[in-house]
Amino acid sequence: MRKDRTSFGFPTETVREGEVEVVVPRLSAFIVSPSDYAPSKAPVFYNPAMELNRDLATLALQVYQKMLGEEISICEPLTGCGVRGIRFAKEVRGVKGVLISDLNPKAVMLARFNVKLNRLSKRVLVKNDDANLILSTHAAPQKRFNFIDIDPFGSPAPYIDSAVRALRDGGMLALTATDLAPLCGVHSKACIRKYGGKPLRTEYCHEIAVRLLAAALAKAAAKHDIGIQIVFSHCIKHYIRVYAITEYGARKADKALKNLGYIVHCFKCFNREVITQSHPFSLPLECEECGAKLEVAGPLWTGRIVDKNFCGQIIDEANYRRFRQHKHLLKLLSTIHGEAELPPTYYVVDKMCSRFKLNVPSIAKVVASLRDKGFVAGKTHFNSRGIKSDASAKGVIETLKELNLGLS
Ligand SMILES: C[S@@+](CC[C@H](N)C(=O)[O-])C[C@H]1O[C@@H](n2cnc3c(N)ncnc32)[C@H](O)[C@@H]1O
Ligand SMILES: [Zn+2]
Repeated sequence: MRKDRTSFGFPTETVREGEVEVVVPRLSAFIVSPSDYAPSKAPVFYNPAMELNRDLATLALQVYQKMLGEEISICEPLTGCGVRGIRFAKEVRGVKGVLISDLNPKAVMLARFNVKLNRLSKRVLVKNDDANLILSTHAAPQKRFNFIDIDPFGSPAPYIDSAVRALRDGGMLALTATDLAPLCGVHSKACIRKYGGKPLRTEYCHEIAVRLLAAALAKAAAKHDIGIQIVFSHCIKHYIRVYAITEYGARKADKALKNLGYIVHCFKCFNREVITQSHPFSLPLECEECGAKLEVAGPLWTGRIVDKNFCGQIIDEANYRRFRQHKHLLKLLSTIHGEAELPPTYYVVDKMCSRFKLNVPSIAKVVASLRDKGFVAGKTHFNSRGIKSDASAKGVIETLKELNLGLS
């Protein structure tokens, strides 16, 4: 990283990310108090902590481009300094053109500079417009994109409808959501407002967040007779990300909507159930294990949130590349791959042990014991202390008790 000579009217520095070099605001210059979150204080947004998000996006995009087998067009309508769209153009093979845009004129100035810096002026076009306007002007059939990346401040919800309309049949849409307080149930009303589903503050709220976002996308797409398939998703620290491929047709939309349902949860005994029905009228109200009142999350996406094959191809791509966080990225991908076909929700071993005053066994031991009993079980990237399994909460608690007694 080096300080820059070029004057943008605010302090900048040049950083390398992936295979590109970009000028970004010098974040250290915008921290006044220790609690300041520098990316949002700077005149142009750049968050180095999202590098992994962008690494994964280039990999997923390469997998998608190979699947499609043709040159692709891309739109990133909330681009900030341009780093994401510029990385797509430089690092992904088979990219015809990238349209990047931002409402902030300073961001656009920096993005234009960065496009030139990376000698990409022929393939990357920079605009200074509202994201929904850009997307809407690309809603006509001949103007649509193969891939759209929505990476906003907070919620992607305000952009989902116009993104769906600007995608070709078979196009891929990636959505980042950083508004985890609503999605994880701290601000339920905001979640219902933005995503049309009720969140729940359970230990697996991050997975519920992914499922609420996927459901919001499925519902928005269905209005246009478009179905979706979720091919990849992940949750890292303060954000979630969902990748979906669209399929035109009313039947495809109906098929996608069949994935919507609810999760009912018992806060007393950890029991939970996935209900694959699209209306809430006949949801169970009482826990069949302990009789306590059940709480409901949804409507949400109850189907797969990662396609194992797609994720496997992302891993293959990652093996060719040397990202700064290569090891971490491969470990994360391997866990996501391992949990792709495990059931929805997970148990947090530490939480269960603390409730029943048990010593906390290693995750590996719990997984092995459950498998010995014939259950499917595995780790989850959502929580390093979590396990996914088809065993009931009661079954997992029994296993934890046995492990404490040295019986398992
Ligand atoms: C989280 S930042 C984007 C980060 C960027 N995608 C990256 O990977 O570095 C969100 C950006 O959206 C821009 N923005 C906010 N509202 C917008 C709108 N309605 N239309 C276009 N851009 C907007 C902001 O100026 C900001 O640069
Ligand atoms: Zn119960």
